[in-house]
Amino acid sequence: MKIVSSKEKSETHSELCVTNNTAKMAEAAILGFLQNNESIPDSGKFAAELNLDHEEIKNVIKSLQGFRYIEAKELKRETLVLTDEGKKYAAEGSPEFHFFSAVPEEGSISKDDLEKKLEASVFKIGSTQAAKKKWVAMGKQVSRKVQHVEDKVKESLLQIQQGLELDQESLNSLKARKLIVTQGWTGYSDVKKGPCYAPKRKIFATDLTRENLQNWKELEFKEYNFNAKGQPLDAGHLHPLLKVRKQFKDIFCQMGFEEMPTNNFVESSFWNFDALFQPQQHPARDSHDTFFLKGSMLESSATEFVSWKILSQLTPSTTRELPEDYVERVKQVHESGGYGSRGYNYDWKREEANKNLLRTHTTAVSSRMLYALAKGPFTPKKYFSIDRVFRNEAVDRTHLAEFHQIEGLICDRGLTLGDLIGVLQAFFSRLGMPKLRFKPAYNPYTEPSMEIFSYHEGLEKWVEIGNSGMFRPEMLQPMGLPEDVRVIAWGLSLERPTMILYGIDNIRDLFGHKVDLDLIKRNPICRVGIE
Ligand code: PHE
Repeated sequence: MKIVSSKEKSETHSELCVTNNTAKMAEAAILGFLQNNESIPDSGKFAAELNLDHEEIKNVIKSLQGFRYIEAKELKRETLVLTDEGKKYAAEGSPEFHFFSAVPEEGSISKDDLEKKLEASVFKIGSTQAAKKKWVAMGKQVSRKVQHVEDKVKESLLQIQQGLELDQESLNSLKARKLIVTQGWTGYSDVKKGPCYAPKRKIFATDLTRENLQNWKELEFKEYNFNAKGQPLDAGHLHPLLKVRKQFKDIFCQMGFEEMPTNNFVESSFWNFDALFQPQQHPARDSHDTFFLKGSMLESSATEFVSWKILSQLTPSTTRELPEDYVERVKQVHESGGYGSRGYNYDWKREEANKNLLRTHTTAVSSRMLYALAKGPFTPKKYFSIDRVFRNEAVDRTHLAEFHQIEGLICDRGLTLGDLIGVLQAFFSRLGMPKLRFKPAYNPYTEPSMEIFSYHEGLEKWVEIGNSGMFRPEMLQPMGLPEDVRVIAWGLSLERPTMILYGIDNIRDLFGHKVDLDLIKRNPICRVGIE
């Protein structure tokens, strides 16, 4: 909000009165004219004849038209307007005229003296133009060739300013000298009486005040405009991602899923990769793909600070706690298998598992949850999560280094791939995406694995919308889950469906520091379907 001083305030106030007055004059002029005349053929000419501002006339016509006092047609044409240089010559005269006037009527003047007498631009332009028009003889000495000249440039410019016609030759020369340019012009033609015409605008009562109600017989109340927009509400607004997240969350809840706690962006490699039977040489475990945490400098070198231990605990590069007996079983399954698997046959290193990172998927949370579930007597569970994950990716129109993942899993005895397909159909149908197709895929932690495609009616093609699979026994058995327990799971990003829903094709318009706040204020409150 702008705070105005009392002086400024009074100025603003008087300005307002002036605009109100000119508007009133314009209104009276239009309504008065139409009382005795059929129509106003051209609002521009009307304004010029009455010496009124055309913009004001236009505003008044628009408003009177809205109240059906008058009818009018929009008029568009090209007009000529003076450039700054043109305006200057129209007011002060052309440089050639000033140049000519500076040359004495009789005899001559030296060029140098003339240059001293005149403004630099007047001398430069004036000498060329005056010579071209054969008004003067130019040499070291300058003299008049004619006794009297007329400043036609100034006259022509004034004529244009008044909206008068000019011959083509003069127009061309003024345009060539960049003294005038063409500009789009809008106004109204055929301004006539409308169905509610009156020579004076009625003042309607607009408020239901005590006084107005008491005098209701004498007053005429303004009709209620049901099409008028309300005042924009100055309230908080939800980001599209939050709205779509809510939509997903509601679907999970309707289907009986419980939300997993995802409040840890920092995760150990163990839970993010090892527990998921992802081998330590896997390319995703490379720093090119994953953000690993650096220890604080204090952790490694400085010992002179008393509090270094505390500080280093805030930014540790490695995890301090893992369930040791489970770690041992994970090591075993990686190195030599078990539970019917041959394992990967390599030396599993604890240091690799200890490394902290920004979780690359929320499946890290699922592995923690399943491990916790395996500790108690088995109960079937349906879990979901929607939260942020991080990948060391090159940022482009569709990729960011951080995004949100939606993950769902069901854990029960004897589940099959058919159950997974069925639950995916149910899940995506609720989002308005009933047409699904599946394609065999590979994840280190699921077998079989399937990419999920949905038919996009707008784009008229199949688009990939997620990834899914059944968690491998090499992941579930070391946790201690009963042998016949199967886990079906799927994951997708939150950004992709949000972008499709809101018609955004650059992810940076949706998330990050370049997001336009207006996008958040103006997007629809709710939508139906996901197409
Ligand atoms: N974690 C997978 C990903 O990041 C998604 C997924 C979740 C796949 C669960 C299968 C099962 O893409």
